Amino acid sequence: MSRILLLGKFGQLGWDLHRSLAPLGEIIALDYPEIDLIHYNSLDEVIQKEKPDLIVNATAYTAVDQAENEAEIAMAINAHAPKRLAELAQANKAALIHYSTDYVFDGTKGSPYLESDSPRPLGVYGESKLAGELGIEQVSGAYLIFRTSWVYSLRRDSFVTKVLNWARTQTSLRIVADQVSNPTWCRMLAEVTSQILAKAGEHPHGWINERSGLYHLAGSGFASRFDWAKKILEYDPLRDEQIVEDIQPALTGDFPTPAQRPLYSALNCDLFTETFGLRLPEWEVALELAMGD
Ligand SMILES: NC(=O)c1ccc[n+]([C@@H]2O[C@H](COP(=O)([O-])OP(=O)(O)OC[C@H]3O[C@@H](n4cnc5c(N)ncnc54)[C@H](OP(=O)(O)O)[C@@H]3O)[C@@H](O)[C@H]2O)c1
Repeated sequence: MSRILLLGKFGQLGWDLHRSLAPLGEIIALDYPEIDLIHYNSLDEVIQKEKPDLIVNATAYTAVDQAENEAEIAMAINAHAPKRLAELAQANKAALIHYSTDYVFDGTKGSPYLESDSPRPLGVYGESKLAGELGIEQVSGAYLIFRTSWVYSLRRDSFVTKVLNWARTQTSLRIVADQVSNPTWCRMLAEVTSQILAKAGEHPHGWINERSGLYHLAGSGFASRFDWAKKILEYDPLRDEQIVEDIQPALTGDFPTPAQRPLYSALNCDLFTETFGLRLPEWEVALELAMGD
């Protein structure tokens, strides 16, 4: 059985990874404050002590707006720590699984982004995540980076929980209709990650090394936040509690935020499917499952 070090066990994705990875081996699951990735040199001690075959990094600094004022912290967690993990993984013949974001793109392409498209982040969060990708690629060990998009859970604060809350407290909603991407249920992302690692077997280093690279992995299809919100209201199992009567499309510019977001950042996930023979379900299908959970 593999020894799997999971970092970020309390995050949206990390919570589900903790459960879906469990059948694969011995899981050592950590999160802040047991580990603090701002002090990324402390990772050396953790790896030396735990000697994992696999490191799954679900930690991230994900506060997109706050990052504009905390660039150093975002860089430590999203860029320097992943690079250090890659170095430690390579030195210990372990494989690294890491996640990145659609926010590495500027959103001007107009069709789903491929792995070969040039990134151009619009804000500090995207810059720090891109630097993390490049750091791991530079080390060039056995690694998989999954770029994903619009991750939600019903357990932690997410777009889905926000819409459900607004629908119970406001009669009229205005939702941005000019941001488009792939809504991704964290449970599906965790499940697929675990299925790949099951294929990798008990000694995952060699198998992953042969497939090392960056892959887009997000819910199939894409939607605007407005389309997504309408489906959330439709699939809400407690619709009786909603007081909302009217939902209107709005523009990103109507709600100024410190960080600029890409408008069209849908990801094309064909390379992932061709390589691993798996895909995430259509975003509406996953949403219906998530809401019925
Ligand atoms: N959320 C999205 O919409 C989205 C979209 C595209 C890509 N992604 C990527 O998908 C991955 C998973 O995201 P997620 O939504 O699951 O993130 P999340 O819910 O914000 O979870 C991140 C985890 O990292 C922990 N963390 C933050 N700072 C830390 C530190 N200094 N030391 C140790 N742990 C720390 C957090 O702890 P605290 O809760 O205590 O801060 C949290 O448990 C990330 O790589 C993210 O960049 C997310």
